[in-house]
Amino acid sequence: MHKRSVVGVCHGPRCADYGGRVLAIELMQQDIEVEALDCQSLCQHGPIARMDGAICHHASLEQVLCRLIG
Ligand code: FES
Repeated sequence: MHKRSVVGVCHGPRCADYGGRVLAIELMQQDIEVEALDCQSLCQHGPIARMDGAICHHASLEQVLCRLIG
């Protein structure tokens, strides 16, 4: 169901430090399309993910999958 979803993941330096790029790789391993985002100016809440216009703070693979599956 979630295979057609596109999840934006911030690739800015702070989110990368907080695991954003690892999250992007984990999502791609789940066949989820990932869009690399520039810094969203929410660095203290990283890693930041965006799904259907909604921002997810401190994003994890489990959080993103729960949101995608509903
Ligand atoms: S680096 Fe991700 S919000 Fe700034």
